[in-house]
Amino acid sequence: MKTIYCTISDSCDCDFKPNIQGLEWDLYKNLYGQHLVQDIVSESVTSFLQKQSPDRPLVLSFHGASGTGKSMVSAMLARHLYGTSMCSPYIHQYVPTLHFPLANRVKQYRSDLKNWIQGNLTACARSVFIFDEMEKMPPGVIDVLEPFLGPSHVVFQTNYRKAIYIFITTAGQEVINKVTLENRQAGRDREEIQAKQLEEAIADAVYDNKKSGFYHSNIISAKRITHFVPFLPLCRRHVERCAQRELCQRGECQRRDVAVAVGGAMSYTPQDGQHFSSTGCKLVPAKVNLFL
Ligand SMILES: Nc1ncnc2c1ncn2[C@@H]1O[C@H](COP(=O)(O)OP(=O)(O)OP(=O)(O)O)[C@@H](O)[C@H]1O
Ligand SMILES: [Mg+2]
Repeated sequence: MKTIYCTISDSCDCDFKPNIQGLEWDLYKNLYGQHLVQDIVSESVTSFLQKQSPDRPLVLSFHGASGTGKSMVSAMLARHLYGTSMCSPYIHQYVPTLHFPLANRVKQYRSDLKNWIQGNLTACARSVFIFDEMEKMPPGVIDVLEPFLGPSHVVFQTNYRKAIYIFITTAGQEVINKVTLENRQAGRDREEIQAKQLEEAIADAVYDNKKSGFYHSNIISAKRITHFVPFLPLCRRHVERCAQRELCQRGECQRRDVAVAVGGAMSYTPQDGQHFSSTGCKLVPAKVNLFL
């Protein structure tokens, strides 16, 4: 019955329980060194959810080096939009190495993906779709989504424009890292970096990169991404905060020495300056094990 109701109604919101304040607080408190992510994600989600009838879906594309928090923020979003973990039946996560592993099956994958999205949107207009590790997606697959991401796609009266899409990729990290490095070398604060310095450069970089999942994609040329969200490379102080949090979770809050040792044990780039952790906070739990 519910599926039929949802097919003919545009007010079918499933068990959507957004907690915007919870999301903002989580981003502010638990995400380190990512002021652009905090601002863009909070503002875009808030303004999107304020609209009863949005004119297009919310499409966020996360970019940045490994271990900078991309998957972590997608999990936060899922948690605060549905009040549950990633397990909600309305949060759909696609992992290319699992769902789209073979480059010679693009045609099949396109048709599968379109059917999945259509079916899921029929069941719930407020569906959340997360495409992690887009850099491993065979080129051409994701393009099939372009009509869903635009302003006027209404099929069987189901409002396709209430959905949220999140793309995640390391593609674009070179431009983000370069701007962050230049900003630092110019003696400016990290927080002075502005989104508009980066958005266009990221769009160009993923469009030209065969390994971004968006190579020559109509999603980029038709400007279907609401916001490109840059994750900046993390510095030693951020790594130490990650280590400190990990220690507290293990009931070892007072072991500041271990947090400092973890910070010292990471590798940093570039050669000249050693400002940014090459693996972000990713190896922190393993290093904590080593020093504790
Ligand atoms: N900016 C950050 N602030 C706080 N913790 C972070 C941050 N970045 C990463 N972490 C920690 O490191 C772990 C790994 O990060 P995450 O999985 O989000 O990286 P990623 O950007 O998705 O990397 P990859 O591209 O390799 O998938 C997170 O679960 C979190 O504990
Ligand atoms: Mg990830």
